[in-house]
Amino acid sequence: MCGIVAYLGDRNAFEVIIKGLKRLEYRGYDSSGIALSADNQLKLYKKTGKVSELESFTNSEDLNGGTGIGHTRWATHGEPTDNNAHPHLSFDGTLGIIHNGIIENYASLKQELLNKGYEFKSDTDSEVVIHFIEDIRKNNNCKLDEAVRLALSKVIGAYAIVIIDRNDPSRLIAARKGSPLVIGVGKGEYFLASDATPIIEYTNEVVYLNDFEIAIVCREGLTLKNMEDVESSPYIQKIDMELDAIEKGGFKHFMLKEIFEQPKSIGDAMRGRLNAAEGQLALGGIRDYLNRLISADRIIVLACGTSWHAGLVAEYFFEEWCRIPVEVEYASEFRYRNPIIKEGDVIIAISQSGETADTLAAIELAKSKGAIIFGVVNAVGSSIPRATHVGAYIHAGPEIGVASTKAFTSQVTVLSMIAMIVSYKKGTISETSYHELLVELETIPEKVQIALGLDQRSQSIARSFMNATNFLYLGRGYNFPVALEGALKLKEISYIHAEGYPAAEMKHGPIALIDEEMPVVVIATNDSSYEKIISNIQEVKARKGKVIAIVTEGDEVIPRLADYVLEVPKTHEALMPLVSVIPLQLLSYYIADLRGCNVDQPRNLAKSVTVE
Ligand code: M6R
Repeated sequence: MCGIVAYLGDRNAFEVIIKGLKRLEYRGYDSSGIALSADNQLKLYKKTGKVSELESFTNSEDLNGGTGIGHTRWATHGEPTDNNAHPHLSFDGTLGIIHNGIIENYASLKQELLNKGYEFKSDTDSEVVIHFIEDIRKNNNCKLDEAVRLALSKVIGAYAIVIIDRNDPSRLIAARKGSPLVIGVGKGEYFLASDATPIIEYTNEVVYLNDFEIAIVCREGLTLKNMEDVESSPYIQKIDMELDAIEKGGFKHFMLKEIFEQPKSIGDAMRGRLNAAEGQLALGGIRDYLNRLISADRIIVLACGTSWHAGLVAEYFFEEWCRIPVEVEYASEFRYRNPIIKEGDVIIAISQSGETADTLAAIELAKSKGAIIFGVVNAVGSSIPRATHVGAYIHAGPEIGVASTKAFTSQVTVLSMIAMIVSYKKGTISETSYHELLVELETIPEKVQIALGLDQRSQSIARSFMNATNFLYLGRGYNFPVALEGALKLKEISYIHAEGYPAAEMKHGPIALIDEEMPVVVIATNDSSYEKIISNIQEVKARKGKVIAIVTEGDEVIPRLADYVLEVPKTHEALMPLVSVIPLQLLSYYIADLRGCNVDQPRNLAKSVTVE
């Protein structure tokens, strides 16, 4: 939640920051603000609403200055108002802060400061931090970086912060614990941001700040120190990200672009790993602990949201092919239980952003109980890959639309490859079935490309249902998680209530909802439960529900029963989620767009959920 950007150098800081904030808007978009250091003042601009509103608001201002900090907010403490927008200034106005995260002990710190006569302009936890730093700096008569270090040693919670000093524009102080912060290193200039997207057009050299590190960023160089005041040299890495990957490229929304990128992103997940003709499949990143997975007594999958749905698909892979029992856990529940983790258990943590707070906390809990953790993550260099023992990146490229699409298919692709390797090495799958799966997996990008041909048809079905108030999604077996995913996609971007159910469960409750007003999306591809799902469709039709069926090409039965049909190419039953999810993504996209919803930035949501 929240995106932060800061710049120090010879460019116009405002321009760098506003552009960067637009790139980070997926992290929060209820208000934004910028503080610039110029002529021994901190010029502060804050506005409720999107970054574009801040931009219009500052149109006629003199925005010179080569040092500045900026923030786009997803409210946690205090409503989205101009006052609560970041940056926040210290009581004496000399310091400014941007913060991503949550300060858990802000109330007690605030009380201490109120007792000393400090006054607050906002309801945020972040303003407390900057007053606290000011107080420590005055009391100890120390340098800013030392005041930051002393203050943070008393702060409980998560933060990525950047601090600007009115009296010293040649320096920015940054620190991180639990929230991401990347520092782009240019020639005599530095870019600080929540992720690399605001940075890559200027430099591909970055330093990922670690937890409990403080960065002193000056024109002459970058120094790091830890909370014990010990200095270290920054480790500069080169990142491989193209500017095209983070722009809309002619599509109306990032979500639509990302849906259409899937033939490529799924191909990228397999690139260099799978060669079906040669019978080769290898994932270098998991090699070191592969034997632990092969001999696992149980796999526990930890994830949230769409990643959790990908985990559910993986449950079928690991149980069917590898004969390993699997439990798929919401990370947010797992972390607050006292879960039983035994010696033979292996954890697989799945996350697009690699920053989800609940997943990270669940990983730490499992680690503390001695578990080995495999990560399946998209964002390179993010927190989860650094917290796991081994892992495989999904290589989907930046996913900017808040609704996850291409990450889901790439996660399922990578999880299927892991399960194929394990089953083959374990001998729980026949040589023939293994090779068939490799060959079939390689064909998925072209099948997804064909499924994308349902674009216009999905749009026309969307027109018929754009005013519905409820939707039901049904699927069986491998298509059950797809039903959940379809329902999640629809509700998060169109605000229509939608529920996903295993089709056979319908008769235990949801069937009561069905009447002529109720659209029911049935994922009814031709697999081992085909006959059963036909019965479910008939049950819906008998109650006058409107059936939108996802069927396998050439199906002659279901089109006679369903009201609307979307045909997808045939593939192996286990790999069908990679194809059958495509029309569901398109349908939800078009319904949301026709309803005039903000598809890429739905209300109340943020792309990476870095709060509990
Ligand atoms: O970055 P993660 O995969 O860990 O995120 C998990 C969920 O927050 C995420 O999938 C969320 O549900 C998406 N908005 C779904 O489209």
